[in-house]
Amino acid sequence: MFANDLLKNKRILITGGGTGLGRAMAERFLQLGATVYICGRRLEVVQKTATELSAATGGTIEGFACDVRYPEDVEALIEKLWSSGPLDVLVNNAAGNFLAKTEELSPHAFDAVIGIVLKGSINMTLACGRRWLASQHKGVVLSITTTYADTGSAYVVPSAVAKAGVAALTRSLAIEWGGRGVRFVAIAPGAIRTEGAFSRLLPTPELEKALLDHNPLHRFGTLEEIGNLAAFLVSDHAGYINGEMVYMDGGEMLAGSSSFSMIGRRLPDSAWQIMKPKK
Ligand code: COA
Repeated sequence: MFANDLLKNKRILITGGGTGLGRAMAERFLQLGATVYICGRRLEVVQKTATELSAATGGTIEGFACDVRYPEDVEALIEKLWSSGPLDVLVNNAAGNFLAKTEELSPHAFDAVIGIVLKGSINMTLACGRRWLASQHKGVVLSITTTYADTGSAYVVPSAVAKAGVAALTRSLAIEWGGRGVRFVAIAPGAIRTEGAFSRLLPTPELEKALLDHNPLHRFGTLEEIGNLAAFLVSDHAGYINGEMVYMDGGEMLAGSSSFSMIGRRLPDSAWQIMKPKK
């Protein structure tokens, strides 16, 4: 479906690119010809990933330590990357999340998640965006949100408020900066198996099964699927998509959106017979 040079000449930075979804997107972008930069809090993790992906794809990738929560850290990395030319794409992927009862959370727990997800995305977006606007260089910001960014979600409240903010950032700046060459898109993924997410959010086989039962497609998303969707959205082929958040969840979000979508799937045939009109 994709030409091998789809992302040729694009310089792409992925936050949290050492593991999970970030790593998968990095791999796909490399296969499609992009030059990729990944950053994360642990230098050894991003460097190891860069070495592995370079060997696997033959592409050009570099890893940097950066804590996206801190504007000074972000500014230093972006300045360094820009010294060899402008980036073309920023992927706000770095995230933190855990299942917890909200009344038991400390202020620091909220700070940790909101700092990485929301402030991190703001810091990165502003650092790149100001440079793109000043030089009239075209840019794309892809942010990884979540299916509950618009609805909120119990038991992951720091993440829900932070991701809602990232969705708002995406839609707001799509309007403010779109006409000046900076395009904004987001992906709201459902569950995709990664160590980071599943150990924190779906820690038992029972929870996994409950989610699979609820999902209309009865499976999780794959790393290949998010890599392909991300590649399309940041490519020039998606040039008219701006301010959009694409759900990639097998229909899970919609499955919970009406009583009838939920109960209808559980009704036995005998119940459907009772509800047919009597002739
Ligand atoms: N339940 C309740 N509180 C928790 C928690 C949990 N499962 N995990 C962490 N916290 C609290 C800590 O107790 C701490 O608060 P305190 O200082 O008042 O005790 C606060 O959150 C920060 O934790 P800490 O581990 O010091 O922060 P950190 O910045 O190193 O870690 C996290 C950030 C908590 C988000 C950590 O899970 C992380 O690094 N995640 C990155 C990867 C990830 O989450 N991937 C999944 C994406 S879906």
